[in-house]
Amino acid sequence: MNAPQALSDYAHLVQTDRIHGSIYTDPAIFEQEMARIFHRAWLCLGHEAEIPQPGDFRATTLGRQPVLMVRGDDGQVRVFMNRCRHRGMTLCEDETGNEKFLRCWYHGWVYRNTGELEDVPLANAYGAQFRREDFGLTPVPRMESYRGFVFASLAPTGQSLLEHLGLARRYLDIFLDASPTGEIDVTAGVHRTRYRGNWKFVGMDGYHPHYTHRSVMDSWKRRPGGNMANLHHGDPFSDESGNLTRDAGNGHVLLDMFPSRLAHVDEYLGGIRKRPGGEDYIAAMQEAHGPQRARELLAWAGDPHVGIYPNLQLIGIQIRIIRPLAVDDTEVLMFPALLKDVPPSINEMRLRQHESFYGPAGAGAPDDAEIFERNQQGLGATVEPWVYLARGLERERQDTDGSIIGMPGDETTQRGQLREWKRMMSEA
Ligand code: FES
Repeated sequence: MNAPQALSDYAHLVQTDRIHGSIYTDPAIFEQEMARIFHRAWLCLGHEAEIPQPGDFRATTLGRQPVLMVRGDDGQVRVFMNRCRHRGMTLCEDETGNEKFLRCWYHGWVYRNTGELEDVPLANAYGAQFRREDFGLTPVPRMESYRGFVFASLAPTGQSLLEHLGLARRYLDIFLDASPTGEIDVTAGVHRTRYRGNWKFVGMDGYHPHYTHRSVMDSWKRRPGGNMANLHHGDPFSDESGNLTRDAGNGHVLLDMFPSRLAHVDEYLGGIRKRPGGEDYIAAMQEAHGPQRARELLAWAGDPHVGIYPNLQLIGIQIRIIRPLAVDDTEVLMFPALLKDVPPSINEMRLRQHESFYGPAGAGAPDDAEIFERNQQGLGATVEPWVYLARGLERERQDTDGSIIGMPGDETTQRGQLREWKRMMSEA
C-alpha cells in the first residue's frame, strides 16, 4: 500500500477519499503536470483591461513557455510566443510596457505590435527568397477570450473555451457584473507571493480559516455589524451559515458564500448607502440588471471565490494567477480589479478589503503561504504517504445545475480539483 507506484498510475495516486503525497513532492510528476496540464489546457493569462492602450503588453508564461499578450495598434489583443523568429531570443524582457515596435536586442529584427516583421537590418544578405511576411511573430496555437479574460492553450486542438468553462462561466460574470457596465480596470498593478510549496495547495479550502486565520476570524466576530464592510456576518465557514463548497465540474470549484451574503444583503447595502455615491451605485446596478438580479449581484459583491482550473482564481477583487515554478516552488500573482463606472468610494472600499486580508501586510495571505510551506515540509515524511480527503464525502450531493455541493468546510472542492487533475494526467 505504501510503496511508490508507477508514475502513470494516477488512478492509484488519486482515489476517492485519499491521495498519495507524491503528487505534491515528486519532480517527475511535476514534469508530467507541465506536459499534460500546463502545456495543454486552457490557461488564463489575465484580463484585457491590463493592457488598455494600443501597444500595451504583458510578458508572461504558458507553463514554461514565454508568451506575450499585446494589444496592437488596431486595438486587438493577441498572444504570441515571446520568441524572435531569427534565432529565438525573447523579445520582451520587461514584464509590462508599451511599444509600437518590438526590437530584438540580439540582431535588431523589428516587429510591429500586431506581430508582423517590420524590419531586418542588412536584409540584402538573405537572398531573393526571403520574405518578411513569412517571419511574423508566432501566435499561440489557440487563444480565446471570455468577456476580456484571455485564455490560451499550447494544444492546437481540444475542447472550446466555453466547453472548458462550463458551469463556471457564470462566476466570471458575477466578478464582472459588480460594475453596472460589466467593465473592470486592471491597471492598479500586481502584487505577488512566492512560496516554497506545491501549486495545488492554493485556495478553495473552507476547512482551514478557523485555524490558519483564527485571529482574523475572531476579530470579525468582535466587530459589530460583521466585517469587511458588512460583507460577512458571523462565521461564513460554519455549517450554520448556509454556505456551501461547490464543485462546478472540469476542476472548477468555489467556496460559495452567496447564501449567507444574501441573508444579510440589506445590512451590506446599508453600509454601501452611507458611502459617497453609494445610493447612485445601487441605483445604477438596478437600472442595468433589474431589481432582482441587482440584489443578487450586490450580495455576491463581485466575489465568486472561484478557482477556474488550473491557474485562475477570482477571490475578493483579485484576479489571481497561479504559476508553478517547480514541484516545491509556486508564484501567485494578484491583480486587484477595480470596477469601472462606479463612485470612487466603492473602489476604495474594495481595495481596502483586499489589502486587509491579501495585501503584503494583510492579515490572511501571509499565513496561507506559511502554511503551504509547512505542508510541503510535512509531505517529505513518506513512511505513511497518504493524504486524507474524505471530509464531507458521505454528505455531498448534486445541485439542480449538476454541480456537486457540500458544507462550507467539506473537501468537495479538493476532490473536484483532483478528479480533473487525474483526468488530465491520465490522458496520453
Ligand atoms: Fe532576434 Fe537575432 S535573435 S534578431
